[in-house]
Amino acid sequence: MIGLKRLDNLQHCIETVLTEGVPGDFIETGVWRGGACILMRAVLAAYRIDDRVVFVADSFEGLPPPDENKYPADKGDVHHKHDYLAVSRAEVENNFRKYGLLDDQVVFLQGWFRDTLATAPIESLSILRLDGDMYGSTIESLESLYPRLSKGGFCIVDDYALPGCKMAVDDYRKKHQVNAEMEAIDWSGIFWRKE
Ligand SMILES: C[S@@+](CC[C@H](N)C(=O)[O-])C[C@H]1O[C@@H](n2cnc3c(N)ncnc32)[C@H](O)[C@@H]1O
Repeated sequence: MIGLKRLDNLQHCIETVLTEGVPGDFIETGVWRGGACILMRAVLAAYRIDDRVVFVADSFEGLPPPDENKYPADKGDVHHKHDYLAVSRAEVENNFRKYGLLDDQVVFLQGWFRDTLATAPIESLSILRLDGDMYGSTIESLESLYPRLSKGGFCIVDDYALPGCKMAVDDYRKKHQVNAEMEAIDWSGIFWRKE
């Protein structure tokens, strides 16, 4: 779904943290069929890295209905009605398997982000890739995981073109005084490096 420029960006960010020794695992929150996570695992395999894992976080049943009281920015959001966004864990596992990349360096975090991320067994991250489309999904990912992103690690946001996602990113950066410069990847993707 994410296109070549965002795949190239992801590979570049991973190669940078590997070259510079920025500590931490990789995660994508919102994986759909698993494409970006499969690339993450493939880059680790290409460089024969066996001491980092890829966390694959998704409900595997699509997006949640908007929680309009908690996140007014999501009012009227219809992503949860899109059946094509619900891809089962078995299908995603099978997609990894097709590339020979399903092993113990791939860790599934199955469930709603609000239930899985805060308590996920993650010590530190060097790649934090957000692709949950909505305000709630984006802010929950940032609140739970950004504090665990290492200095020099990359925060990559797939959906900055979506108003809810953009608002969540802007709110989080303002509240937590994240001033690292954002760079555009393409018409929707942006990223920055934690300072
Ligand atoms: C646009 S798709 C992700 C595309 C994917 N990154 C790729 O590389 O093709 C959004 C995904 O986020 C998941 N998602 C969104 N919000 C979520 C939430 N709050 N909890 C769990 N999963 C969520 C959906 O199930 C869906 O698979």
